Amino acid sequence: MKVVVTGGLGFIGSHTVVELQHQGYEVVIVDNLSNSSTEVINGIVAITGITPQFEELDLRHKASVEAFFTKHADIAGLIHFAASKAVGESVENPLLYYENNINALVYVLQALQQQPEAHFIFSSSCTVYGQAEHMPITEDASIQIAMSPYGNTKQIGEEIIQDVAKVSSINAILLRYFNPIGAHPSAEIGELPLGVPQNLVPFITQTGIGLRQELSVYGNDYPTPDGTAIRDYIHVVDLAKAHVVALQRLLHKKNTQKVEVFNLGTGTGSSVLEVIAAFEKVSGQKLPYKIVGRREGDVISAYANTDKANNILGWKAQSSLEEALASAWKWEKKIRS
Ligand SMILES: NC(=O)c1ccc[n+]([C@@H]2O[C@H](COP(=O)([O-])OP(=O)(O)OC[C@H]3O[C@@H](n4cnc5c(N)ncnc54)[C@H](O)[C@@H]3O)[C@@H](O)[C@H]2O)c1
Repeated sequence: MKVVVTGGLGFIGSHTVVELQHQGYEVVIVDNLSNSSTEVINGIVAITGITPQFEELDLRHKASVEAFFTKHADIAGLIHFAASKAVGESVENPLLYYENNINALVYVLQALQQQPEAHFIFSSSCTVYGQAEHMPITEDASIQIAMSPYGNTKQIGEEIIQDVAKVSSINAILLRYFNPIGAHPSAEIGELPLGVPQNLVPFITQTGIGLRQELSVYGNDYPTPDGTAIRDYIHVVDLAKAHVVALQRLLHKKNTQKVEVFNLGTGTGSSVLEVIAAFEKVSGQKLPYKIVGRREGDVISAYANTDKANNILGWKAQSSLEEALASAWKWEKKIRS
């Protein structure tokens, strides 16, 4: 069965390609290399021994998207990772984000709905919940006003898919990720942030390797046990496996609604200081850090209730925070060696 993975050379996409190949799917990657490189294909091949098909294509170009789907009319499903994801950049250049994350989604859905049966998996985010009232966060928690154009594209994207699925052949699963971290245990693929990382773990590993002088911890006066913000860090390989399970649910027609939503997290919240301590343990070295003021837009705490994914998808995150950090550290050391 042929599965298209848009953004398949990116961080989460590449790990998902590996898991799809492990399960016997034929993968076609679509990527415009705006935040990735073709070297990732070598990493995928090193792990699975299978070369995925790759089409360099910008999904903002409607005609190219149409041509792609004419060529690949026989696909069983599509996993849509392709998007721009830098929150700060989205504030500075909102139209870039609306164009890339919304136009591309619309073109893909337009092409997909031509198929008699279409199966679609969408990368959404826990940012849709904002600062949720109750922890852990369930899928029926209310959606809050987005704090950034990036966050808004995820909310709008979810709404578009809901609307389209009602009137088309499309069945979809929206996956709301908490905080993906880590790398493949082989260190053949991992996260490659451009410039200064905005996320905690790449910043930690880059500081650990000496690329950055010290880590800034944004705020230690939050109403949490140690005063630092709490997130749910999920190993990217666990996250990738959830995509395969979600796709299989659609392919086997196990879904009970045209559009289903699942949180993907571990169910455990970790504070920034806990992540630093866990990193120091797995790396065996001290991490230089300083406490600075809170960062605008950061919520106090966000961790998932994963019951729905556990019980309905039959998926559960397996890796511990330490395992995920160890894989991120192994990857950082490999790419800097
Ligand atoms: N990483 C996270 O923390 C996180 C959290 C929640 C949701 N998400 C979402 O998950 C998805 C994947 O995230 P990631 O961390 O792997 O990001 P990534 O930047 O590593 O991967 C995205 C890939 O999409 C490609 N791409 C972007 N625009 C494209 C276009 N117009 N045409 C074709 N390819 C295009 C990029 O080159 C890149 O390879 C994104 O939709 C992101 O918003 C990520």
